[in-house]
Amino acid sequence: MAEQGKTMVRLHDLRVTFKAPGKTIRAVSGVDLEVAEGEVVALIGESGSGKSVTLRSIMRLHPESRTRIEGGLEVDGRDVLAMTGRELSPLRGDTVAMIFQEPLLALDPVYTVGAQIAETIRRHRKVSAAEARAQALALFEKVRIPSPARRLDAYPHEMSGGMRQRAMIALALSCSPKVLLADEPTTALDATVQIQILLLLRELQRELGLSIVFVTHDIGAAVEVADRIAVMYAGRIVEQGPAAQLLAQPRHPYTMSLLQSRSHGALQKGQRLQTIPGAPPDLSNLPPGCAFAPRCSYAVAACQAQQPAELRLDAQHAVRCLRAQELQFAEVANAAAAAAAISNDLFDPTKETA
Ligand SMILES: Nc1ncnc2c1ncn2[C@@H]1O[C@H](COP(=O)(O)OP(=O)(O)OP(=O)(O)O)[C@@H](O)[C@H]1O
Ligand SMILES: [Mg+2]
Repeated sequence: MAEQGKTMVRLHDLRVTFKAPGKTIRAVSGVDLEVAEGEVVALIGESGSGKSVTLRSIMRLHPESRTRIEGGLEVDGRDVLAMTGRELSPLRGDTVAMIFQEPLLALDPVYTVGAQIAETIRRHRKVSAAEARAQALALFEKVRIPSPARRLDAYPHEMSGGMRQRAMIALALSCSPKVLLADEPTTALDATVQIQILLLLRELQRELGLSIVFVTHDIGAAVEVADRIAVMYAGRIVEQGPAAQLLAQPRHPYTMSLLQSRSHGALQKGQRLQTIPGAPPDLSNLPPGCAFAPRCSYAVAACQAQQPAELRLDAQHAVRCLRAQELQFAEVANAAAAAAAISNDLFDPTKETA
């Protein structure tokens, strides 16, 4: 979908199903997504829409015995689904690295953070212990940890939440990946620290030429940081496009509902997406038509009967809605402005306390 640069991640009709007792859960039902070199893409959508499952598939992190992944999945031109276990380990770390929501789960509590990063570097490259430590120090400087030399010798619990996130980003960068996946890197943090971390990711992306896919619940953050936004619903990307365009001119009723839910009521910094009336579908029993139709005030009979094909509005903007040609949501312009205003309010680099 991206126009310039090499495609670093290519998902084509990606389907991920989990076997559970007596049922099959269709967590991802045909995702098409391309991420170019140097591009930052945000995945948004309600809880359970398949954002984490999609991200984890890119590194094949799902339990093999209960998971079926089908379709096309390429990273840096290589077919990830065809990789053997031996080929997967260099993929994880050297090519793609992931940062998780809770750094305490990614960092080992009994080693200093510096030791963990140095060890990871030495596992991937033949360098001396002193050289690995020097590289770890350089990474701490890159992620702007204050007093980096001293903090290399800190244990994870001795760091604040924001600092731990930075340390985890340093760990993720330690093998110079080309693609960084970030699964809600910031929800555990204070709103101000969240945007700081996301802006740091954006800056690192520019400096290192990384491609980044990140999951967020904060549309303001997505617009601030991402080039492109992909909106997921029930395991599908229902709309994707350049961040500003998608916000100003959403064409899927679900995207519009998300924006509206974001702009109603008291606006609070970093608030999570509010719920839209109705519940998401049962992923073990998906309807034949558009999965959003039961909750959609624009749905017509045909929506319940058939799956909408992807409609390309232009080279970058695509939508899956039978009525996308006729629906225009002018009233959302206000919501878009509101979301952007909150996110600007968050952007104050002097405020980081963590
Ligand atoms: N290993 C698994 N086995 C069975 N079902 C799973 C597994 N992992 C995820 N699921 C199901 O797949 C669906 C999509 O989950 P996913 O974690 O991708 O949602 P999400 O969009 O990341 O939501 P959230 O915003 O809450 O993180 C959910 O219904 C979840 O319960
Ligand atoms: Mg998730």
